[in-house]
Amino acid sequence: MKFFIDTANVQDIKKAYKIGVLSGVTTNPSLVAKEGVKFEDRIEEILQLVPDVESVSAEVTPDAVSAEEMIEQANELIKINNNDKNITIKLPMTLAGLEACRYLAHKGVKTNVTLIFTVNQALLAARAGATYVSPFLGRLDDISEDGVQLVSKVAELFRTHSLDTQIIAASVRHPDHVTRVAMAGAHIATVPFSVIEQISKHPLTDQGLDKFAADWQKSVK
Ligand code: E4P
Repeated sequence: MKFFIDTANVQDIKKAYKIGVLSGVTTNPSLVAKEGVKFEDRIEEILQLVPDVESVSAEVTPDAVSAEEMIEQANELIKINNNDKNITIKLPMTLAGLEACRYLAHKGVKTNVTLIFTVNQALLAARAGATYVSPFLGRLDDISEDGVQLVSKVAELFRTHSLDTQIIAASVRHPDHVTRVAMAGAHIATVPFSVIEQISKHPLTDQGLDKFAADWQKSVK
């Protein structure tokens, strides 16, 4: 399973990129709004920061409702990146989003269909040619449904029908989500930097380091 970082924060992207675990970035309108910057400017900045990752997801804005409006925005976003391949157009799981997805997939543009909450939605998106689908597990857990189970079922479905759409486990909130979606067959987990930090740590690692440091003081120099 690969890691994408789920943020529009430049410092967090730099930190994750530096440690060499990053295969991509996902953003959404809420994450960009939190940064208080212009959407296109931030996407351009991110693309420059991580030029060699597989994918940077830029989501069409909520005012693009029809497929035509989404495609128009997608064309503008693609231009930001000089038509390089790592920009991924993130589209909502609506009928118009699927139509835009099919159109863009035919043009060779990567797509990420977002706000997936059922296996059927994932199947539709895959059939519309999505490069990625994003099931939101944390938000399902929030309403007492099992988000990881959705990821597991989508993975099984894609294997059964030989669909090559990749699953991005999204709305990942804590380390246990990461382990469980990896075991469930997600191709990617998109996570905030705080989760990357958390999964790098263990109290016994810290204790071990303290002991090495204490013993090292006593060693012959
Ligand atoms: C995914 O692409 C979304 O940006 C994200 O994972 C949503 O997470 P949240 O439910 O924590 O907002």
